[in-house]
Amino acid sequence: MSLFIVFEGGEGCGKSTQTRALCRHLSRDGFQVVLTREPGGTRLGERVRRYLKQTNETPISPLAELFLIATARAQLVSEVIRPALKQKRTVICDRFTPSTLAYQGYGRGLDMDALREVNDIATDGLVPDLIVLLDIPVEDGLNRKKSKESDRFESESVAFHTRVRRGYQKMAKADPKRWLVVDGRLPRKAIEKKVWERVGILLRRESHA
Ligand code: TMP
Repeated sequence: MSLFIVFEGGEGCGKSTQTRALCRHLSRDGFQVVLTREPGGTRLGERVRRYLKQTNETPISPLAELFLIATARAQLVSEVIRPALKQKRTVICDRFTPSTLAYQGYGRGLDMDALREVNDIATDGLVPDLIVLLDIPVEDGLNRKKSKESDRFESESVAFHTRVRRGYQKMAKADPKRWLVVDGRLPRKAIEKKVWERVGILLRRESHA
């Protein structure tokens, strides 16, 4: 049984907590799980992540940003995700291609078709079975991050993050079979329950396939 599950959302939406929780639930039920993240998850990807997040470098152009992210993604897919799926493991990824459409597309204004093509090349056509969107108002998310120093993305304007949020909502609405939208302001356990219910449906479907 191999599922590919992606968590998405704006800054401070609670993805890391929820990816870890799902990983625990699946492992408890005997599934072999690989938990990873974007950008990152490989040596190359983690270097790209550090570079992209720091605020003290010369400004990175939107296109350069896109290709750095695509570079990290291509490496993650070939080094971690594809091999894990091949070994019938379930892969949980904190961000994937939808982040590029949300941030580089709706946020930065790059051409959507071009982004889809770059995503398709970087992933060699790999599409998640489920995308969980943890949706929270921009200010709530940014406030959750206030205790830390803001990184390059978090330092973007509220208008930027609002475009990102609207973009996510639009993508989720257009493909409800693949997306699950959960209110990120719900208590942690309530979110876990909603995610687990939906994953359960997928697992049952897979086991009958
Ligand atoms: P996070 O996973 O800790 O939220 O940090 C990753 C940052 O990278 C986040 O601010 C969004 C950004 N990002 C993009 O802009 N495009 C992408 O395709 C991905 C994967 C991440």
